[in-house]
Amino acid sequence: MKEINYRFMEKRDAYRAYRIMRSAFSSPWGIKEFEDGLKLSYNICMVAEDGDLVIGFCIFRVLFDTADLDMIVVSKDYRNQSIGSHMIDLGIKEIKKTEAQRIMLEVRDSNTEARRLYERMGFKQISTRKEYYANPSEDAIIMEMNLYA
Ligand SMILES: CC(C)(COP(=O)(O)OP(=O)(O)OC[C@H]1O[C@@H](n2cnc3c(N)ncnc32)[C@H](O)[C@@H]1OP(=O)(O)O)[C@@H](O)C(=O)NCCC(=O)NCCS
Repeated sequence: MKEINYRFMEKRDAYRAYRIMRSAFSSPWGIKEFEDGLKLSYNICMVAEDGDLVIGFCIFRVLFDTADLDMIVVSKDYRNQSIGSHMIDLGIKEIKKTEAQRIMLEVRDSNTEARRLYERMGFKQISTRKEYYANPSEDAIIMEMNLYA
Protein backbone atom coordinates (compact mmCIF):
# COMPACT_ATOMS: atom_id res chain seq x y z
CA MET A 1 0.00 0.00 0.00
CA LYS A 2 1.29 3.46 -0.95
CA GLU A 3 1.92 6.17 1.64
CA ILE A 4 -1.21 8.29 1.31
CA ASN A 5 -1.64 11.55 3.19
CA TYR A 6 -4.95 13.10 4.17
CA ARG A 7 -5.73 16.75 4.80
CA PHE A 8 -8.42 19.39 4.37
CA MET A 9 -9.07 20.49 0.80
CA GLU A 10 -7.62 23.88 -0.13
CA LYS A 11 -8.43 26.28 -2.96
CA ARG A 12 -5.39 25.09 -4.93
CA ASP A 13 -6.88 21.54 -5.01
CA ALA A 14 -10.12 22.56 -6.71
CA TYR A 15 -9.08 22.02 -10.32
CA ARG A 16 -7.48 18.61 -9.71
CA ALA A 17 -10.48 17.46 -7.61
CA TYR A 18 -12.77 18.73 -10.35
CA ARG A 19 -10.89 16.59 -12.90
CA ILE A 20 -11.20 13.49 -10.70
CA MET A 21 -14.93 14.15 -10.35
CA ARG A 22 -15.31 14.60 -14.13
CA SER A 23 -13.73 11.21 -14.71
CA ALA A 24 -16.26 9.52 -12.40
CA PHE A 25 -19.66 11.15 -13.00
CA SER A 26 -21.98 11.70 -15.93
CA SER A 27 -23.49 14.88 -14.39
CA PRO A 28 -20.65 16.55 -12.54
CA TRP A 29 -20.77 19.95 -10.92
CA GLY A 30 -19.01 22.81 -12.70
CA ILE A 31 -15.63 24.14 -11.57
CA LYS A 32 -17.29 27.33 -10.28
CA GLU A 33 -19.72 25.40 -8.02
CA PHE A 34 -16.75 23.43 -6.82
CA GLU A 35 -14.65 26.45 -5.91
CA ASP A 36 -17.65 28.18 -4.35
CA GLY A 37 -18.37 25.06 -2.25
CA LEU A 38 -14.89 25.20 -0.75
CA LYS A 39 -15.55 28.70 0.58
CA LEU A 40 -18.65 27.65 2.53
CA SER A 41 -17.90 27.35 6.22
CA TYR A 42 -20.38 24.51 6.67
CA ASN A 43 -18.61 22.24 4.18
CA ILE A 44 -16.01 19.75 5.40
CA CYS A 45 -13.81 18.81 2.45
CA MET A 46 -10.99 16.29 2.72
CA VAL A 47 -8.44 15.20 0.13
CA ALA A 48 -6.17 12.17 -0.13
CA GLU A 49 -2.81 12.67 -1.81
CA ASP A 50 0.01 10.51 -3.07
CA GLY A 51 3.06 12.78 -2.81
CA ASP A 52 1.65 16.07 -4.01
CA LEU A 53 -0.89 14.47 -6.35
CA VAL A 54 -4.48 14.65 -5.12
CA ILE A 55 -6.01 11.22 -5.80
CA GLY A 56 -9.34 11.49 -4.00
CA PHE A 57 -11.63 13.82 -2.12
CA CYS A 58 -14.87 13.91 -0.19
CA ILE A 59 -17.25 16.73 0.67
CA PHE A 60 -19.63 16.78 3.63
CA ARG A 61 -22.18 19.56 4.16
CA VAL A 62 -23.06 20.14 7.79
CA LEU A 63 -26.28 21.99 8.56
CA PHE A 64 -27.56 21.96 12.13
CA ASP A 65 -28.14 18.37 13.31
CA THR A 66 -27.48 16.73 9.93
CA ALA A 67 -24.38 16.26 7.81
CA ASP A 68 -24.70 15.15 4.18
CA LEU A 69 -22.02 13.27 2.35
CA ASP A 70 -22.35 15.21 -0.90
CA MET A 71 -19.60 13.52 -2.83
CA ILE A 72 -16.72 11.08 -2.53
CA VAL A 73 -14.43 10.08 -5.37
CA VAL A 74 -11.16 8.16 -5.50
CA SER A 75 -9.11 8.06 -8.74
CA LYS A 76 -9.56 4.71 -10.51
CA ASP A 77 -5.95 3.57 -10.03
CA TYR A 78 -6.20 4.07 -6.28
CA ARG A 79 -9.48 2.32 -5.48
CA ASN A 80 -9.80 -0.71 -3.14
CA GLN A 81 -6.97 0.49 -0.89
CA SER A 82 -9.21 1.82 1.91
CA ILE A 83 -8.70 5.44 0.80
CA GLY A 84 -12.46 6.07 0.53
CA SER A 85 -13.08 4.49 3.94
CA HIS A 86 -10.30 6.53 5.49
CA MET A 87 -11.60 9.84 4.11
CA ILE A 88 -15.06 9.06 5.49
CA ASP A 89 -13.58 8.18 8.89
CA LEU A 90 -11.70 11.49 8.97
CA GLY A 91 -14.84 13.34 7.90
CA ILE A 92 -16.82 11.68 10.71
CA LYS A 93 -14.17 12.76 13.21
CA GLU A 94 -14.59 16.38 12.07
CA ILE A 95 -18.40 16.14 11.97
CA LYS A 96 -18.39 14.97 15.59
CA LYS A 97 -16.92 18.37 16.51
CA THR A 98 -20.16 19.99 15.22
CA GLU A 99 -23.73 19.72 16.46
CA ALA A 100 -24.59 17.11 13.80
CA GLN A 101 -26.18 13.94 15.13
CA ARG A 102 -26.39 12.00 11.90
CA ILE A 103 -24.98 11.72 8.39
CA MET A 104 -27.21 11.29 5.36
CA LEU A 105 -26.33 10.43 1.79
CA GLU A 106 -27.91 9.40 -1.45
CA VAL A 107 -26.41 7.00 -3.92
CA ARG A 108 -27.41 5.55 -7.28
CA ASP A 109 -29.20 2.23 -6.97
CA SER A 110 -26.66 0.61 -9.33
CA ASN A 111 -23.56 1.97 -7.55
CA THR A 112 -22.77 -1.26 -5.75
CA GLU A 113 -19.17 -0.30 -4.86
CA ALA A 114 -20.24 2.85 -3.07
CA ARG A 115 -23.25 1.15 -1.43
CA ARG A 116 -21.08 -1.66 -0.06
CA LEU A 117 -18.56 0.84 1.26
CA TYR A 118 -21.29 2.85 3.00
CA GLU A 119 -22.89 -0.27 4.49
CA ARG A 120 -19.55 -1.49 5.75
CA MET A 121 -19.01 1.89 7.41
CA GLY A 122 -22.35 1.66 9.22
CA PHE A 123 -24.79 3.54 6.97
CA LYS A 124 -28.29 2.02 6.81
CA GLN A 125 -30.73 2.31 3.93
CA ILE A 126 -33.80 4.25 5.09
CA SER A 127 -35.70 4.98 1.86
CA THR A 128 -35.52 5.36 -1.90
CA ARG A 129 -36.31 8.29 -4.18
CA LYS A 130 -37.79 7.24 -7.49
CA GLU A 131 -35.94 8.48 -10.58
CA TYR A 132 -33.95 10.98 -8.55
CA TYR A 133 -30.97 10.93 -10.89
CA ALA A 134 -30.74 11.88 -14.57
CA ASN A 135 -28.25 10.75 -17.26
CA PRO A 136 -29.26 7.95 -16.91
CA SER A 137 -32.50 8.16 -14.97
CA GLU A 138 -32.23 6.08 -11.80
CA ASP A 139 -33.59 5.72 -8.26
CA ALA A 140 -31.59 7.08 -5.33
CA ILE A 141 -31.00 4.97 -2.23
CA ILE A 142 -31.11 7.19 0.86
CA MET A 143 -28.81 6.09 3.66
CA GLU A 144 -28.25 7.32 7.19
CA MET A 145 -25.69 6.90 9.93
CA ASN A 146 -26.71 7.88 13.43
CA LEU A 147 -23.51 9.13 15.07
CA TYR A 148 -24.57 8.53 18.65
CA ALA A 149 -27.00 5.58 18.48
C1 LIG B 1 -16.94 4.58 -3.97
C2 LIG B 1 -15.44 4.90 -3.94
C3 LIG B 1 -15.24 6.33 -3.45
C4 LIG B 1 -14.77 3.92 -2.95
O1 LIG B 1 -13.42 4.31 -2.78
P1 LIG B 1 -12.29 3.26 -2.39
O2 LIG B 1 -11.10 4.03 -1.99
O3 LIG B 1 -12.13 2.25 -3.46
O4 LIG B 1 -12.98 2.57 -1.10
P2 LIG B 1 -12.30 1.51 -0.11
O5 LIG B 1 -11.01 1.00 -0.66
O6 LIG B 1 -12.30 2.09 1.24
O7 LIG B 1 -13.37 0.34 -0.12
C5 LIG B 1 -13.73 -0.29 -1.33
C6 LIG B 1 -13.50 -1.79 -1.26
O8 LIG B 1 -12.15 -2.09 -1.20
C7 LIG B 1 -11.90 -3.09 -0.23
N1 LIG B 1 -10.59 -2.82 0.33
C8 LIG B 1 -10.28 -1.86 1.18
N2 LIG B 1 -8.95 -1.96 1.48
C9 LIG B 1 -8.46 -2.99 0.76
C10 LIG B 1 -7.18 -3.56 0.63
N3 LIG B 1 -6.12 -3.12 1.32
N4 LIG B 1 -7.03 -4.58 -0.23
C11 LIG B 1 -8.08 -5.06 -0.93
N5 LIG B 1 -9.33 -4.56 -0.82
C12 LIG B 1 -9.50 -3.54 0.02
C13 LIG B 1 -12.95 -2.88 0.78
O9 LIG B 1 -13.24 -4.06 1.52
C14 LIG B 1 -14.10 -2.47 -0.07
O10 LIG B 1 -14.71 -3.63 -0.55
P3 LIG B 1 -16.18 -3.93 -0.19
O11 LIG B 1 -16.89 -2.61 -0.38
O12 LIG B 1 -16.54 -4.97 -1.16
O13 LIG B 1 -16.19 -4.37 1.24
C15 LIG B 1 -14.80 4.68 -5.34
O14 LIG B 1 -15.18 3.43 -5.83
C16 LIG B 1 -15.18 5.76 -6.35
O15 LIG B 1 -14.55 6.81 -6.43
N6 LIG B 1 -16.23 5.50 -7.13
C17 LIG B 1 -16.68 6.46 -8.17
C18 LIG B 1 -17.34 7.67 -7.56
C19 LIG B 1 -18.57 7.29 -6.76
O16 LIG B 1 -19.38 6.47 -7.19
N7 LIG B 1 -18.71 7.89 -5.56
C20 LIG B 1 -19.85 7.61 -4.68
C21 LIG B 1 -21.05 8.43 -4.99
S1 LIG B 1 -20.79 10.16 -4.60
